[in-house]
Amino acid sequence: MNESNVLKVGIVGAGFIVKKSHIPGLAATSKCYIAGLHDINEVAAREARKFYLDQMEQGDNPLLSKAKNGCNIHDSLEELVKSVDIVDIATPPAYHLEAVSLALNHGKHVICEKPLARNWQELLQYPEIMEKAAGGDWKFQLHTQGIWHPIVKAGRDLIADGVVGEIQQIRTLHQGADPKHTVKLASLWDKHHSGGGALMDIGPHAYAGMWYWLDAGWEPVAVETQLLEATVPVREIAGKPGTKVTVEDDAHVTITWKNKDGREIRGDLEASWNKKDWHEGKVGSRLAPDLYYEITGTKGILTFPNVMLSFRKPFGIAAGLKFKGKKGEKHAYKFKLPKKGIEDLNFFDEFIDVIKGERKGRNDFKFAEEMLLVFGAAYLSSKSGKKVTLKEYKKYAENFKETPALIDDLFSSF
Ligand SMILES: NC(=O)c1ccc[n+]([C@@H]2O[C@H](COP(=O)([O-])OP(=O)(O)OC[C@H]3O[C@@H](n4cnc5c(N)ncnc54)[C@H](O)[C@@H]3O)[C@@H](O)[C@H]2O)c1
Repeated sequence: MNESNVLKVGIVGAGFIVKKSHIPGLAATSKCYIAGLHDINEVAAREARKFYLDQMEQGDNPLLSKAKNGCNIHDSLEELVKSVDIVDIATPPAYHLEAVSLALNHGKHVICEKPLARNWQELLQYPEIMEKAAGGDWKFQLHTQGIWHPIVKAGRDLIADGVVGEIQQIRTLHQGADPKHTVKLASLWDKHHSGGGALMDIGPHAYAGMWYWLDAGWEPVAVETQLLEATVPVREIAGKPGTKVTVEDDAHVTITWKNKDGREIRGDLEASWNKKDWHEGKVGSRLAPDLYYEITGTKGILTFPNVMLSFRKPFGIAAGLKFKGKKGEKHAYKFKLPKKGIEDLNFFDEFIDVIKGERKGRNDFKFAEEMLLVFGAAYLSSKSGKKVTLKEYKKYAENFKETPALIDDLFSSF
């Protein structure tokens, strides 16, 4: 291995997802290594460093000694940014753009946790990001690990092979079980934390799956929200008993997608922390949390139940294709069980190839920005009771100077 080709990654924010997904992925690749960490809580950074080195040791990673000598804890975000090639941002969403901006100003590549920001409007406060996003040779990847999963890729390949025929409709669902780490997080009750609730928190995975399956031929143009509610309106949170919830824990959103021929289809997305109601019990009751995908075309309906994200549990894998117009005719696709957590390794390993120009990224900055427009339009649609185009949402958002004021306005009738 030529170690001079090995890129340096700097972690910003070393909390839950860094330990759950980023470190396992980074400890398994030998194309890059963590050369620095920055967290406002230095203990979290130190713990993450130890966890990373332990994982490298267990996996016999050839970069272990390089990482041991070179993985530094930085008090200053800017010092960290200057010392690495890739800035990997996993702070709460309110702080993402500050780090993206610093990374771009120093000419670094960026990995950012979903969502890119609390709201699309937040980007307007960083014109340098918008400018550089339009061009330049920096690479960007939003961390939405589902689309790095081989099974999700297998679904995309089946669609590309034409098994469903001409696409007519798509549905994706991401449901959570209110995991403990979320209870501790303000994202569960405070709209200013992530800019919204379940839609902002786990909606990105469902959205990414929909976008990835539809491929580059489709773009989102409008959103109509069917349901947005807090099914648990008051939370018992340690230190804050009886906290009023200001975000949704269940969101049903219909996205209109348009292709270059002007044809439109509907994409139904559900993001829910506690409930599995849209798919009428059938899916929800059978599923352990995570993701469900379904795509309907002129030939049939392809369903992919139960894709787990980064949580190291085994999952049953079988996709079913139900043919249209042929009563009872079904086809089951079976897949070899992939290595657990393979999406984490794929994500980080592939990004190095993307930087080196050896492959195309699975998502990009435009995808991350568009997702914010879609979710913003969903909240505005809930408020106005009407379908909202992405263009209309942009116009609305541009009227606000401060993101908190915009978030307050979007949720004023919630
Ligand atoms: N992809 C996924 O499956 C997934 C799952 C959970 C969370 N996330 C995303 O990851 C991000 C972090 O979520 P988490 O659950 O890991 O949160 P967390 O609270 O566990 O970790 C965040 C870390 O960032 C640190 N931090 C806070 N503000 C900071 C700042 N200004 N500068 C530096 N460090 C700062 C905190 O001390 C903490 O250690 C969010 O964007 C969230 O949406 C993604």
